Amino acid sequence: MIPFLEFHSEFRRLETEIRAAIDEVFQAGWYILGKQLEAFENEFAAHLGAAHAVGVASGTDAIHLALAAAGVIRGDGVITAANTCVPTAVGIIAAGGELQLADVDPGTLTMSPQALERAITEKTKAIVPVHLYGHPCDMDAILAIAQRHGLVVVEDCAQAHGACYRERPCGRFGAAAAFSFYPSKNLGAYGDAGAIATDSDEIRGRLRRLRNYGEDRRYHHVCDGVNSRLDEIQAAILRVKLRHLDWANDARRQRAQRYHELLAGFPLRLPHEAPWATANYHLFVIRTPQRDALAEHLRERGVATLMHYPVPLHLQEVYQRLQLGPGSFPEAERAAHEVLSLPLHPDLPMEEVEQVALAVRDFFG
Ligand SMILES: Cc1ncc(COP(=O)(O)O)c(C=O)c1O
Repeated sequence: MIPFLEFHSEFRRLETEIRAAIDEVFQAGWYILGKQLEAFENEFAAHLGAAHAVGVASGTDAIHLALAAAGVIRGDGVITAANTCVPTAVGIIAAGGELQLADVDPGTLTMSPQALERAITEKTKAIVPVHLYGHPCDMDAILAIAQRHGLVVVEDCAQAHGACYRERPCGRFGAAAAFSFYPSKNLGAYGDAGAIATDSDEIRGRLRRLRNYGEDRRYHHVCDGVNSRLDEIQAAILRVKLRHLDWANDARRQRAQRYHELLAGFPLRLPHEAPWATANYHLFVIRTPQRDALAEHLRERGVATLMHYPVPLHLQEVYQRLQLGPGSFPEAERAAHEVLSLPLHPDLPMEEVEQVALAVRDFFG
């Protein structure tokens, strides 16, 4: 079976560095809010070109705390894309936001600026554009709308490490940007972790209090906070993996390029980079109305696939309360029936890329 993802090859490639990094933490004997995190925050911010990064326990917490630090309070409307994964919505709701949704552009499957403008109401306070699959949203158009309506922008960069919009990295646009380091991400920890990037000293200060019980200085708590910290072992691992991120993104791009070469001309929609975009190929998502049959065919041929995502947010049982039935976001709904993610990671052997592509080609005869 060709797995969708596997972590052993990466670990073998980085084993010496990872073991040394973890050992440093054991030697230091300090596990929470220490030197590894401080160093990772500095290195991650520098890689991005941001003034600050603040580590937290997950990407979901990063969205929650970034919105809170950017001023979202209970009852504020927060608009995100209808096709994102549930954690984006979970972060918004944890911040007290009221979930508002916008449909997506059929070409990029990221938030449609026109749909965003239509979704804005009196309640709307913030926008969370999602650079889904590692393809950047049309940020100029989104920022222009945000500015016109006085809205805060917090980017969801959970899938976008190293992706660029007009040569500028995703995470350099709104007031703050939320990153996930879930193991499968382009920059993944060996457990849960996340971070927020921002240029604002004020937002950074709020985030550092929010993640640590609202503590300002020892024993003095100035706001309601949570416990959401990126631990020293994960920070040490992330420091190693950050050094290899650009290489890993190039390796993904080469594999994506091979898929493109082998699948061109078949009745499929292949991922397409908009003129402004440098995608990081977090996922290689193809589209066909015969998605379920193709997934089954690939399974029989020993190829594991996933769907990102088969149920749009407004049709999830939990969000029935929004009273947005089928037909509310036609592009997101169509994508939910058609998207299929093929195996793609930096250590995927090129022969396996070819085997997967051949199996897809066989399906179409
Ligand atoms: C687009 C998007 N947003 C948010 C998240 C949440 O990140 P985490 O799983 O680290 O909480 C994820 C990943 O799961 C994601 O893919």
